Amino acid sequence: MRKTLPNLSHNCYYKRNFIFPSFFYYSSINYSYVTLMKNIVLAITGGIAAYKSAIFARLLIKAGFEVRVIMTTGAQAFITPLTLQALTGNEVHTSLLDEQAEAGMGHIELAKWADLIIIAPASANTLARLAMGMADDLLTTVCLATTAPVIIAPAMNQQMWAHPAVNLNVQTLRDMNYYLIDPASGEQACGDVGAGRLPEPEQLLDAVRLFCAQQTTVQLLADKTIVITAGPTVEAIDPVRYLSNHSSGKMGFALARACVEAGAQVILIVGGKVALPTPLGVTRIDVLSAEDMLIAAQQCVVGSHISMQANSSYNNDSHEHSHQHNHAHQHDHSHQDGSCDCHYEYEYEQSDTHTPVAAEPQSLATDIFISTAAVADYRTEEAAPQKIKKTQKSMSLSLVKNPDILATISLAHPQLFVVGFAAETQDVERYARDKLVAKDLDLIACNDVSRKDIGFASDDNAMQVFFAKRYEHEAVTLEKASKDKIAQQLATIIGETLRQR
Ligand code: C5P
Repeated sequence: MRKTLPNLSHNCYYKRNFIFPSFFYYSSINYSYVTLMKNIVLAITGGIAAYKSAIFARLLIKAGFEVRVIMTTGAQAFITPLTLQALTGNEVHTSLLDEQAEAGMGHIELAKWADLIIIAPASANTLARLAMGMADDLLTTVCLATTAPVIIAPAMNQQMWAHPAVNLNVQTLRDMNYYLIDPASGEQACGDVGAGRLPEPEQLLDAVRLFCAQQTTVQLLADKTIVITAGPTVEAIDPVRYLSNHSSGKMGFALARACVEAGAQVILIVGGKVALPTPLGVTRIDVLSAEDMLIAAQQCVVGSHISMQANSSYNNDSHEHSHQHNHAHQHDHSHQDGSCDCHYEYEYEQSDTHTPVAAEPQSLATDIFISTAAVADYRTEEAAPQKIKKTQKSMSLSLVKNPDILATISLAHPQLFVVGFAAETQDVERYARDKLVAKDLDLIACNDVSRKDIGFASDDNAMQVFFAKRYEHEAVTLEKASKDKIAQQLATIIGETLRQR
């Protein structure tokens, strides 16, 4: 049995219109994961990727973790213990049978001290020894003696990684509850190209952070699939110009991250030209206009977006692609290593997208739909095919109403748990309650965007959340906090409310 993490079983009650404090326990969990899982043993084995471990150790320290390093004999051929000692401020552990070392922090003490062990890079030899349960050096012995979770980041030549013996060992290790970070693909130090690279130190840190956050967060959204819309939409006037709004997408991205940390599978449909990095574990689909966003949302909710053609490699410039109607780009960031190497492009099936159609309950691929996007209410009646010239003194645009994505999805799928957002400048509560009923929502989160210190581009937010009548609660106030913190509180509220259904 691995080390049991702190018991996070919850017991919270919320009443009419109360201010959030009783949720604070949960919302603070993610921020305190560094306290709950502070002690990390970083084990380095023999491979050229060992040089990345020095930077990784530094990043762990900067993120607030306490780090103790184990180096195998092979690792010391690539990088010196002195480097790691200087970076971590702790003596490096290299030997199982060293009297002096055992007199300091012995192997059993080290195994007990660790809240988490991460082996990066893990060589093929180490994988084999761990899979066999051997205890022939300090690293393998500590892994046998610990109850802490162990994350393994293998790195080796692509041909070695593809070998059936290595595959078998990896499977054995997964079966034994070790957590594997898949190696990244690309050019290798030996000149080969393929899978086997150690992910970059920043990606390793992201993976560790997500792992710790998940381990220390109540998994209220486990087994749930959530589709979230985020960002503005962009409505073409001509090939050069468009109508849009000031939405940054930050709230939707923070919510996507919080939902993954609470155990959900998340698809994030991003409108406009949001350049925020995709949270690890989130599948992202980029669209431009409201119409594209509606089609993407409809397909994701019923799962038909999966029938797409895989394209070659991830392209960092993909946000700059000139998007056309009925095109979307999906970045699958669901790899644990955050290597972001999948890029899908596909064409939507054309359909009569604006009419709510009752779907069979069993056809839904999604449990929860959250609409944080600031969808443009109007679009031009017809985008000009060529750039409009400035020959006239004035010009007018004829606008038509965009589909209401939230209402369309909600009314078509009554069995979905649906969450809306409302940005208002006055009469916040009245408008929010009206929308809750009109769009048949389970929850609506609303904020006053006339306040300069919260909303849109700000990193902070404050909200009131209103519940549909069928729930025992009426409203919750989320006091001003970072969007990350607000998102964690919302994820908790969504998880708790879903259970009351
Ligand atoms: O009606 P209003 O635009 O204020 O409603 C806000 C909510 O509706 C938000 O959740 C927003 O994402 C969603 N919405 C939508 N499609 C629209 C307009 C708003 O999904 N065309």
